[in-house]
Amino acid sequence: MATVLSVSGSPSATSRTVRLLRHLDAGLAAQGHEVIPLDVRTLPAHALLGADFAHPEIVRATELFARADGIVVGTPVYKAAYSGLLKTLLDLLPQYALTGKTVLPLATGGTTAHVLALDYALRPVLSSMGAAHIVPGWFVLDQHITTGDDGGVALDPASAAPLDQVVAQFAAALDRTAPVPAAR
Ligand SMILES: Cc1cc2nc3c(=O)[nH]c(=O)nc-3n(C[C@H](O)[C@H](O)[C@H](O)COP(=O)(O)O)c2cc1C
Repeated sequence: MATVLSVSGSPSATSRTVRLLRHLDAGLAAQGHEVIPLDVRTLPAHALLGADFAHPEIVRATELFARADGIVVGTPVYKAAYSGLLKTLLDLLPQYALTGKTVLPLATGGTTAHVLALDYALRPVLSSMGAAHIVPGWFVLDQHITTGDDGGVALDPASAAPLDQVVAQFAAALDRTAPVPAAR
């Protein structure tokens, strides 16, 4: 099974993007994948903004990227693009940090007018970092992510069905590329 790093680029303490990612993480973990959450907002701001490549938490984040077979990149849409917070971390990673990785790009946003931000803004950056396979991503309207009666994440069916599909495609791509455990 694969190791998946699930990265949120939202600066919000009550982030819908994070809630969405943790919901999807649970599904991937239930399939047997090791899922490691990484919220960029928890990394030290001075290291991100001061380009402190050697800061232990930046080094650790870089190692998590290197270890992962698959990476889920979730961002809110800000000003018709991905968040600046996400970019501060991507800028500190090695140029080809995504070499050999399978990547699932996801965005949440307030208006479908910016649904293409994933393709014109985020995807080229991920591609420039050497991602082996960027599977189709999905844009989720913020109002489609709510809290259910059980306290868990509730997704509007209009988003839940396509999300199931892109996550299934991501998982299938991981299964094709993840290292097979050595026979005993
Ligand atoms: C500063 C700011 C800028 C935003 N710009 C856009 C935008 O250009 N397009 C859009 O669809 N939504 C925009 N939004 C709405 C957010 O993308 C949306 O609410 C998102 O789900 C927030 O995710 P979060 O809760 O994980 O931070 C903006 C929100 C903020 C706070």
